[in-house]
Amino acid sequence: MSGLTDRYGRTAVDLRVSLTDRCNLRCTYCMPAEGLAWLPKTTLLTDDEVVRLVSVAVEELGVREVRFTGGEPLLRPGLTEIVARTTALEPRPRVSITTNGIGLTRTAAALEAAGLDRVNVSLDTLRPERFKELSLRDRLTDTLDGLAAAAEAGLTPVKINTVLMRGVNDDEAVDLLAFALEHGYRLRFIEQMPLDAQHGWRRDEMVTAEEILASLRAAYTLAPSDKPRGAAPAEEWLVDGGPATVGVIGSVTRPFCGDCDRTRLTADGQVRACLFATTETDLRGALRAGAANAELADLWRGAMRAKKPGHDIDDPSFLQPPRPMSAIGG
Ligand code: 5AD
Ligand code: SF4
Repeated sequence: MSGLTDRYGRTAVDLRVSLTDRCNLRCTYCMPAEGLAWLPKTTLLTDDEVVRLVSVAVEELGVREVRFTGGEPLLRPGLTEIVARTTALEPRPRVSITTNGIGLTRTAAALEAAGLDRVNVSLDTLRPERFKELSLRDRLTDTLDGLAAAAEAGLTPVKINTVLMRGVNDDEAVDLLAFALEHGYRLRFIEQMPLDAQHGWRRDEMVTAEEILASLRAAYTLAPSDKPRGAAPAEEWLVDGGPATVGVIGSVTRPFCGDCDRTRLTADGQVRACLFATTETDLRGALRAGAANAELADLWRGAMRAKKPGHDIDDPSFLQPPRPMSAIGG
């Protein structure tokens, strides 16, 4: 079987599938207050189409890990069924979701029963007022309850993704780590990337990995973990001697593109070789025109061969991709 290897020798074995571009929050680094023009319903892959393309990735292309994202994947009515059908594939991939946690109290147990292995929950603040400012919805409690429900259901390790923004929540690094340690969640800070629909990202306003580490060191001792980083984007640090760790993902200042093992599928059936790709490969059209699995696999391989070596965010010629984060999936 030949897999998803690009011209730089990287092989994608980790698939991110966006199941919807909609979300029940409006985090400022992702979506404008008024929302976006949603993808037209007829262009969205059906549940059967999603499972078909995931099965091509797993059975024909060597994908070992499937992450369902959005928008907010819990808003997709068929999520549990899609997870169940994905975990039934051979060889069974690891399956996780990236979610804002809202609704997990109702769905965590069913998702676990469907075979879901883990969840990543996005959480940028522990202060209710701030949560509302950041996401334009007053739902901190729902997210915190969702985290607890995930842990309770055994969707572990529960990971938290945090984006710090200057003058907004960059004073909360220590509080967030204390919270994660107390509950046994694994916290990872992610440098903010230029993926917001409003194009408001500024390099000099970004809170860097270096700054995040400095904030944390005011309260904790951090030592580099000896676990090899491999294709994992987070640099892991042992907190106060371990075993607890905290991750810092320097997407911009410490890019890991050289080890990238990801491929992405949008909710409307386009393959993206990179978060920052400016071109996409249409699988939906081929699928609906009756293409066989082998043809779909060939199209996917071709899409990945066009993958660029890196994101070039620091290059003056850098162009933000036309699709915002909410329509790409994390
Ligand atoms: N930069 C960095 N991370 C982002 N996320 C969403 N938008 C951005 C961005 N512009 C994070 C979310 C979520 C994951 C999918 O990516 O917080 O945890
Ligand atoms: Fe991979 Fe693109 Fe992210 Fe780099 S920017 S790690 S190539 S997805």
